[in-house]
Amino acid sequence: MRKAYVAGNWKMNCTIGEATELAKGLVAGLSADANADVAVVPQFLAIGAVKEVVAGTPIKLGAQDVYFEKNGAFTGEISTAMLKDAGCEFALVGHSERRHVLGETDEIIRKKLDALLAEGLEVILCVGEQLEEREANQTEKVLEEQTVAGIKGLTPAQLAKVTIAYEPVWAIGTGKVATTEQAQSAHKFIRDLVAKLFDQAAADALRIQYGGSVKPDNAKDLLAQPDVDGALVGGAALKADSFLGIIAGA
Ligand code: PGA
Repeated sequence: MRKAYVAGNWKMNCTIGEATELAKGLVAGLSADANADVAVVPQFLAIGAVKEVVAGTPIKLGAQDVYFEKNGAFTGEISTAMLKDAGCEFALVGHSERRHVLGETDEIIRKKLDALLAEGLEVILCVGEQLEEREANQTEKVLEEQTVAGIKGLTPAQLAKVTIAYEPVWAIGTGKVATTEQAQSAHKFIRDLVAKLFDQAAADALRIQYGGSVKPDNAKDLLAQPDVDGALVGGAALKADSFLGIIAGA
C-alpha cells in the first residue's frame, strides 16, 4: 500500500517573509494523523527560512530545480551539494515550465536527476503532454519518451528515491483539471511502463503524483484513483488552508 505524497510547488511566488508565514500556517494546521507525506518547494532564496520553520516537523523540504555540474563557472546555477547543505531532501526535475518555457530537454533533465541521486537526494520527476499532443492521441507516446529518458537504467535502489508527477501541461494553472479517468489512465500507463523497465514490485512501490489544477474540492476524487498516489500542487499550495484541504483529501 503506497502512502499518499502531497507536495506544494510554490513556483516563483512568495518573498522570504511570505514563504515563512505560509510554512508557519502549514505547521500549525497539519494534523498529527495526516495520512500523507507532505512537502513544500519554495523558491531558492526562501529555502533557508522555510527550513527553520519546518525543522523537526514531518514536512519535507525541496527545491524547484538544480544544476547537474558540481561547482564552477555556471553563473546563476545551484548544485546538488548546495541544496543538501541548505536542508533540501529532494528537488523537482522536468517541470513543464522548465521544459516548455525554459527549453529543458530530456537529456538535461536526466543529468539533473542523476546528479541528485548521486548526492543522495530524492527526486520528483515531472512528465506530461501538451494539449496538441493529447488532441493528436500522442499522450502515451510523450509519457513513454519522457519516462524512459528520465529513469531507464537506474538501479532499483535509485528508483526507490524517485517519485513521478504526471502533470498534463494543459491542466497546469488553467483551472482545467484532468478527469479522474484521464488521470487514472495516464498513471496506469506509466506504472505499467515502469513494470516493463524494472519489475512489477518496483512499479507497485513507485509513487505517482497527479498535478494540474488540484484543489481541495477535486483532490479527494483524484486521489481515490488506484494509481494516483498524491498530488503536486501549484496555485492551491499558496494558501495554507487550501493546501491543508488537499492533504485532508488524501
Ligand atoms: P497548478 O500547478 O496546481 O497551479 O495547476 C501544478 C504544477 O505546476 O505543479
